[in-house]
Amino acid sequence: MRLDKYICQATTLTRSQAKKVIMQGRITSADTTVRNSAYKVAGNEAISLDGKLINVRTARYIMLNKPKDYICSTVDEQLPSIINLIKVDKPEQLCIAGRLDADTTGLALITDDGQWSHKITSPRKKCAKRYRVELAEPIQASAVELFKTGIQLKSENQLCLPAELELISENEVLLTISEGKYHQVKRMFAAIGNHVSELHREKIGQISLDTKLAPGEWRYLTEQEVDSIA
Ligand code: URA
Repeated sequence: MRLDKYICQATTLTRSQAKKVIMQGRITSADTTVRNSAYKVAGNEAISLDGKLINVRTARYIMLNKPKDYICSTVDEQLPSIINLIKVDKPEQLCIAGRLDADTTGLALITDDGQWSHKITSPRKKCAKRYRVELAEPIQASAVELFKTGIQLKSENQLCLPAELELISENEVLLTISEGKYHQVKRMFAAIGNHVSELHREKIGQISLDTKLAPGEWRYLTEQEVDSIA
């Protein structure tokens, strides 16, 4: 990471203030003064400001119980972004690991660790996501096998990956999928002639939505939850 960016992330200084302290010769790496803002800081390097060691703030990992009528975009559009609900410093550095539709509720994971987010969203990682689905029409028991085999979505060349469908009642199911195609859950049920009337995400990988969080509330993930995404 560039030295000026590193200083911004490790302190409350802005980029121009960081450049200034670099030019003033106040930054050292292992006792050597560094005056170049573009200097690349190595992962294990000890950077000091005025002789005091600074450390890059460790990444933030957040779970939010997404309410309806918020969007999983980092900027507001016709509806407000879920980032508005999270009152933290430098919210512009956050990204959302896997989008939910505006009318979908439940578990949203938010972080400034791009690599961690990638492990959730990359199709190659096949990270499981569990949804509670309310259906407009009663579901047939035979649907379990169809989902296991792979649903054919409209306008897709390939079948969906096998998905686990658990019937809760005539109109309620739990569905676990390990990919994240556009409107995938709604399209899967449309493909078998049904319609999703309510959609709620309960789990991503091993991370379950904390039932103590009311819609709109959030908390930081525990270390164990962060490490469970591999
Ligand atoms: N699938 C959908 O159709 N919508 C969501 O919000 C999430 C998964």
